[in-house]
Amino acid sequence: MEHDLHPVSPEFASNTLVTETQYQEQYARSLSDPEGFWSEQAKKYLHWFEDWEKVLSGGFDSLDVHWFSGGKLNVSFNCLDRHLATRAEQPAIIWEGDDPKDSKVINYRELHEQVCKFANVLKHYGVRKGDRVSIYLPMIPEAAIAMLACTRIGAVHSVVFGGFSSEALKTRIQDADCQIVITANEGIRGSKIVPLKHNVDTALKECPNVRNVIVVKRTQNQVAWNSSRDVWYHDAMSQIKTECAPAIMDAEDPLFILYTSGSTGKPKGILHGTAGYLLYAAMTHKLVFDYHDKEIYWCTADVGWITGHSYCVYGPLANGATTLLFEGVPTYPTASRFWEVIDKHKVNIFYTAPTAIRALRREGDDWVKRTSRKSLRVLGTVGEPINPEAWEWYYHIVGEARCPIADTWWQTETGGIMISALPGATPLKPGAAAWPFFGIVPMIIDDEGKPVPDGKMGKLVITQPWPGMLQTVYQNPERFVNAYFKEFPGRYLTGDQAYRDADGYYWISGRSDDVLKISGHRIGTQEVESALIRHQAVSEAAVVAIPDPIKGQSIYAFVTLKVGFHSNDDLKKELVQTVRESIGAIAIPEHIQFTEGMPKTRSGKIMRRLLRKIANNDLTDLGDLTTLADPGVVDEIIRDREIK
Ligand code: PRX
Repeated sequence: MEHDLHPVSPEFASNTLVTETQYQEQYARSLSDPEGFWSEQAKKYLHWFEDWEKVLSGGFDSLDVHWFSGGKLNVSFNCLDRHLATRAEQPAIIWEGDDPKDSKVINYRELHEQVCKFANVLKHYGVRKGDRVSIYLPMIPEAAIAMLACTRIGAVHSVVFGGFSSEALKTRIQDADCQIVITANEGIRGSKIVPLKHNVDTALKECPNVRNVIVVKRTQNQVAWNSSRDVWYHDAMSQIKTECAPAIMDAEDPLFILYTSGSTGKPKGILHGTAGYLLYAAMTHKLVFDYHDKEIYWCTADVGWITGHSYCVYGPLANGATTLLFEGVPTYPTASRFWEVIDKHKVNIFYTAPTAIRALRREGDDWVKRTSRKSLRVLGTVGEPINPEAWEWYYHIVGEARCPIADTWWQTETGGIMISALPGATPLKPGAAAWPFFGIVPMIIDDEGKPVPDGKMGKLVITQPWPGMLQTVYQNPERFVNAYFKEFPGRYLTGDQAYRDADGYYWISGRSDDVLKISGHRIGTQEVESALIRHQAVSEAAVVAIPDPIKGQSIYAFVTLKVGFHSNDDLKKELVQTVRESIGAIAIPEHIQFTEGMPKTRSGKIMRRLLRKIANNDLTDLGDLTTLADPGVVDEIIRDREIK
């Protein structure tokens, strides 16, 4: 395959944190002497109250991986206190509201104070070390404050994306057994109101263990109030002391739980630990974005996702960076918004998702060209493969061919970036995630687990532990093993398909399992199917992905109805509503096709491979249908397909 290679410009390479030669040398060192390598990094990037006894013990064979055992530290201390001597007045957070007139700057001194106060509020409401706290907030500074306050006292946060429904929130609160929920009366995105407190009230009808709800007043609108349970954030903060000593945490104490979708069952509570995660988030933030002191860095992700955890909050703040938090959407009030914010706050490093790039590219170049963007130095993307057209547009129109693009491949489970170009060190190939980060050993294997030659597509696995990796699936160690290590013992299975080219670049093509990526959001087909089946009319549902020019993928659902129910447009609307209520708007099917039956094998398994082809209107080679229990159903499904 031929691809344009964009060499590193000498001008950029002269002032980069890592050059190509240094990358090669340090990468080799990180593999030949991982303990020495990570020990040096841990000293360089983190402040420790007590040193560790062992950098790394265990491995993927025994699955008892430990990082920095015996070490003591505190995440909020690393993100705040240690910067006060040198950068108390430096902006820590620049907040840009949904309305362009709304923004504010919080410096490190102020952020430290707010976090200490809120940590005391949490203590006041009975939160202790190890307790789980649910955070269901919009993109406002209080989201970062709440997360850091949890880490200050050793509580484990579980952030739930504000776009998830009350039902999705409920299952996450129950699974982690959270006793405190932090929310806002309402959120605002693209001038639309998000009824967060209302959703919490609904969720809590089935969460008897929740004692208190702490509510940030984001809008002036009234919301229902339960005075024995609900507390205003500003009231709680107004009479609380500002000193709060950081809890001394073990390196391996749990830091947070973040739910993410898999190919089976309910979302998994991915558990990340303290030291390994923070080190990996900090180091990748610094090197992948080539972060130089005092630069303004903006990651457009929501804190409800891992990208928001690692690259809006923990990575940048651990490095004493200025991180911009954005409450709004890329197209409000106009498609110039991102670029206007970049000019307004002189953003140097900008990190977003391919879906946003594609959506803005569609709006035309003028929205970009009317802004200056001269502060920009480095660009990044994350969440799904970026197609070369979108890449070229981002590179040439947004970055004016002077900003390298880091196409960062990673996952909720990996804690931080695993495969990416390092700006200034890696010649770029549009659409390739490029090279592994230090200490990361990817491998592409076939279905039998054998490594495949370069250029051949296979399953992407990681063969060595790394500090940012998940510790387990919360309260479900069996699922941890089954999901990631059972199929290929001794290797971490990513669930992605990829190939490596002759230059050692990794090209990620997408998931190899039943996980969808809709606008970069990770959704399990089974979750959507379970949501559809909740409707009384539905007997069976099968969900597949079809390509979408903006969202990357969209959902195509096949639905069979129970006897006595009839397909019509109203029913389609009800099904959409059911999915919205069970999961959220991000999981709504674009297409719903009613069928008399599903193509099933004689053992009763739905033949998804076939449905995927039909949904994609790819009827050339439907494969072997002789194993179907009732091949007759296929003709009807083909006839009624939505895309022709
Ligand atoms: O399929 C890969 C895709 O996103 C999945 C992980 O999703 P999530 O846990 O939600 O984390 C997203 C943000 C880190 C991966 O298994 N993915 C992520 N980044 C890329 C990507 N696919 C291709 N290229 C990327 N740069």
